[in-house]
Amino acid sequence: MQTLIHVTYMVASVLFIVGIKRLSAVKTARSANAISAFAMLLAIVAAMLDIAHQGEIAWLWVGMGLVAGSAIGAYLALTVRMEGMPELVGFFNGMGGLASSLVAVSMSIFAWIAWGELLSAQTAGMTTTVGVAGLPEAAAETRGAAPLLTPDNAITIALSILVGGVTLTGSLVAWAKLKGVMSGGQIFLPGHKAINLVLLVITLGAGIAAFFVVPLGSITLLYQLLAVAVVASFILGVTFAIPVGGADMPVVISLLNSFSGIAAAMTGFVLYNNLLIISGSLVGAAGMILTIIMCRGMNRPLTNVLFAKFSLTGGDKEEYINVKSGDPVDAAIALANASNVIFVPGYGLAAGQAQHATRELADMLEERGVNVRYAIHEVAGRMPGHMNVLLAEANVPYDQLYKREDIEADFKNSDVAVVIGANDVVNPAALDDENCPLYGMPILPAHEAQQAFVIKRSLAAGFAGMKNTLFESDKTLMVFGSAKDVISSISEELKQQ
Ligand code: TAP
Repeated sequence: MQTLIHVTYMVASVLFIVGIKRLSAVKTARSANAISAFAMLLAIVAAMLDIAHQGEIAWLWVGMGLVAGSAIGAYLALTVRMEGMPELVGFFNGMGGLASSLVAVSMSIFAWIAWGELLSAQTAGMTTTVGVAGLPEAAAETRGAAPLLTPDNAITIALSILVGGVTLTGSLVAWAKLKGVMSGGQIFLPGHKAINLVLLVITLGAGIAAFFVVPLGSITLLYQLLAVAVVASFILGVTFAIPVGGADMPVVISLLNSFSGIAAAMTGFVLYNNLLIISGSLVGAAGMILTIIMCRGMNRPLTNVLFAKFSLTGGDKEEYINVKSGDPVDAAIALANASNVIFVPGYGLAAGQAQHATRELADMLEERGVNVRYAIHEVAGRMPGHMNVLLAEANVPYDQLYKREDIEADFKNSDVAVVIGANDVVNPAALDDENCPLYGMPILPAHEAQQAFVIKRSLAAGFAGMKNTLFESDKTLMVFGSAKDVISSISEELKQQ
């Protein structure tokens, strides 16, 4: 049985690695999800067999947990709207952190119980391994008769509490900011960095001390120290996330995603579970790589994203002057006479569910011999890959999708740029206004096309809350309305051309 369990763990680990590899391309991403989900099923089955093999398992409780968890997961996955995905991912990250914290806390309490049993066994003159009773067999073998009270366990458990707690409350703050429950602005406390440092020291100190007070036999002291460690880690999660605001939220979500992986890997060390260590490390590394890619995309170091203050200049409250607006007829005429057209999708395309209408317009243009391409900015929308997923849903051919760096130089050679519900990612202020929070972020230079049409409902600001100088450009014509309605009207007009 033990061999079967080990082999199942290994197959699940390999499938996780294959899954994450296939996630790197849009074409293979769907099968990647299915493979990873199957690996997770294998992992759950193997873990259950592992526990059952070593002793009693409360099947009823486990079954109820599985049914409830699967039902909640299925409900959330089926009902979430695409633009609500980042909040959901943030929330799931937080739950991963909570699980890691709970395992660490329960392992400390378990150490206390095991220590008590070891003492009574020794008093009764028995030589026993009771000090590790209840741990997976591998751990028991590793530890022999020694109790859990070793420095490496103490440090691992304290780190697990730290990373788990920070991930939980940091993710909830990110969720609240994205959901609009909390203001997206930055919040700095006096001596913010010092507060963070003190909280870090308290969490680790109390977490480690909790482990070493076990031999004193006071469960009250153990609980008190654990409570201090957990509460300090929760507060640290909040103070970590509140200074980050506006356009930088995607980076924090991705960083917390990485943390949730690290927390899972820590839990793997606590539970002596190799599969958890491997899968946690994969999530930790993937999240960190994505974080770095996004920071590069914004041309800012991570420390700047996490700790720097923006100097807001008034942003969207600044008046617009010289804005020209047109209607779908103007856009249809320009498109009918164009040879090269670049669509720039943004968050408004997702909010307005305009992906299918956009694809239909693109098809009509292609039939007329127009070269149509989509320029995808790495932080367009509200989550990594948001635009790719939306356009894939509408069956836009993959070879029409271009990453920002592969198409930015072509804007000046294009006849028309059609900006559909994008705002921050086409804001030229990011190039030349040092006071703009977006300064330094590479943009899609729609202002360089011969003509730009911007489709949105008003002059309202985008996620970063800034005025967009593209709207005032001589070459820009605003077409006000919801993305789907406007695009459909343009298609109708184009048929008349
Ligand atoms: P934004 O700058 O957020 O602008 C979206 C625009 O869409 C708004 O100005 C809004 O203007 C318009 N809009 C909303 N509903 C619409 C509808 N039904 N039809 C037409 N337009 C509509 O979008 P972006 O250019 O994609 O930039 C993304 C921003 O979000 C960046 O600042 C980025 O850093 C941040 N962010 C990104 C992510 C990731 S990972 N992608 C995650 C979180 C945050 P109206 O109200 O006037 O229509």
